[in-house]
This record gives sequence, structure tokens and C-alpha cells, in this order.
Amino acid sequence: MTIRVAMLGCGTVGAQVVRLLEEQAADLAARIGDDVELAGVAVRRPHRHPDVPAHLLTTDATALVESDVDVVVEVIGGIEPARALLGAALRGGKSVVTANKALLAEHAEELFAAAESSGADLYFEAAVAGAIPLLRPMRESLAGDRINRVMGIVNGTTNYILSAMDSSGAGYADTLDEASRLGYAEADPTADVDGYDAASKAAILASIAFHTRVTAADVYREGIAAVTQADIAAARALGRTIKLLAICERVESDGTEAVAVRVHPAMIPRTHPLAGVGGAFNAVFVEADAAGSLMFYGQGAGGAPTASAVLGDLVAVARNRVVGGRGPGESSYAALPVRQISQV
Ligand code: HSE
Repeated sequence: MTIRVAMLGCGTVGAQVVRLLEEQAADLAARIGDDVELAGVAVRRPHRHPDVPAHLLTTDATALVESDVDVVVEVIGGIEPARALLGAALRGGKSVVTANKALLAEHAEELFAAAESSGADLYFEAAVAGAIPLLRPMRESLAGDRINRVMGIVNGTTNYILSAMDSSGAGYADTLDEASRLGYAEADPTADVDGYDAASKAAILASIAFHTRVTAADVYREGIAAVTQADIAAARALGRTIKLLAICERVESDGTEAVAVRVHPAMIPRTHPLAGVGGAFNAVFVEADAAGSLMFYGQGAGGAPTASAVLGDLVAVARNRVVGGRGPGESSYAALPVRQISQV
């Protein structure tokens, strides 16, 4: 049996997925125990993808999802049409690998319900912190522990901008243009600079860490658009630097346990490990009862690093198909009743 893969979207990340799938076909087949074949790539404008074999390109994403494929890889981003396409794929028993943080942060419950209805896999490592293995370690390796806090830098674009403003005195607008050119920023970079991207990621991290449903709307959010060179200079004079942090923690609110999730610029001592995280790198601390403190660090944005996470998930779901097994389902995401969300 060959594992047939449909890809939805082919931008910065998708192009790297296609390249790696082609370059590593023999190795991937050996690691999976079966061949993997790219069955089609749905895009809006086929002429913009000269590197993808023409016979694979289609503008009909719905037909591609409904065709004889085993896995659907989604790198379109945004809510629709990704939501409808992935819902249909999962209900049809197709495993889904997605990098779509905005979709998960709003509609994870619906996607998991669709996956449970057919027993399909839903993997999304690339949705948070690019290449860094973070979600699967939290969903699987730490599944027996109690996570109390997750904190770190989860947006590469804003970290690239703040790092450049701090180290070279570069201007905000020029640095944002450069982050877009390097493929770090979202199609609409206001999602990065206004903190929406980090808020979606924080909602996903909190849902997994605390086993309760947290959506992007539950996250207190402030972006970096108001951070000026003067702020950065003032921070430096105090031996500090400014980073956009995502913080998810258990708190007590009115005597009951609640969770608080927030994204905002913070002044941190230059000696703090997060202060040295430069460029589009991400770093996330996870604090758990038994494990203690863990730090995850690596490239958080960009085509190839994010494609690495997509490919890792693709291998995982393909292996599950080969052995007739299944990866972690909805109980690995938000298994407990919704808890009080505190906007502390
Ligand atoms: N725009 C995102 C970032 C891409 O800058 O982190 C990775 O999710």
C-alpha cells in the first residue's frame, strides 16, 4: 500500500514540504515502512508554482480531499476554507497534518470531534514554534505529569524585529519588511505584530498543558506595534531587553483553580535565558510537577524549519496507517471540563 498525500496550499512552508518529500522519498519510505506519494497540491494560482510538477497542481481542493488519498496536509492558513476542508477530510477517515494555529485555536473541538467520528489522526506540531518539537512532547511525553506553567517566545517575526531593534538600532518598519522577505511573517503581518499569532499559539499550548479548552479569544493580548527605540534604550539602561512573551499558567481565582493566558511585551533581564534568543528563534519553558523545568529552543518560523515539523507529523500518521494504529486523539488536547479563564 502506498500512502497517498494531498497537500492544501503551497506557500513558503508548502514548497519546502514538496521539496523534502521529493528529495527524501526513499528514506521516508524506509522510515515509514511504505512508499509515500504526493497525489496532488491544491493552490489558487497554479502558474505561480513552476517547481511543482504540473500534473499535481489543481485549483479544486474539495475534489482533492475527496479523492483516493490517505493523508491531507494543510498549509493554507486562516479559518476558511481550511476548516471545511479538514472537517471533510477527517470525517472521511483521512489523517490530517496541519500547521494552522488560527484554526486550532478557534475550532480544535470541532476538528477533534470530526477525527473521533472516523478514528482519523490529527497532528499539528508545526502550528506552534516551527521546527521545535513541543506539542507532541507535551501531548505524549509529559502526559503523565502535571504542567503548571508554559512561558516563552512563540512568534519568530516579532522576535526578529525586537532583536534587530535592540542589537543594531534598526527601525521597526524596515525590520518587519525583512522578516516578511525571509518568510517568517504571516501573509498578513499584523497577525504577528499585534500578537494574534502568539495568542493562537498560547491558546493551543494552554489547552494541551492544562487539559482544558482555551481559545484565542480567552487570551489577553498586546502586540509590539507600540514598542519604540526609546523603550528599548530605556530597557537597556536598566540591564534589560524587551521580548514578546506568551505566558500560560494555573492561577487561583475566587478560591477556585483557573488558568490565565496572556501575550504581551515584557522587559526581561539581559541575563535571562530568553534574552539571548535572537532572530526568528523561539524558546519555551515548560514547568511540570515531576519533570521540573524544561526548555525547548530552536527555529520558530521559516519554510524549511516549519516543513521539518510537518514532515515529522506526516511520518507519524503514515506509520500509524502502516501498523493500523492511531496517534493521540482528543483526550490529549482538552480532556477536562472547561475551567475558569482568568484574564489576570
Ligand atoms: N509568523 C509566524 C512567526 C510563523 O513569525 O512565528 C510561524 O508560526
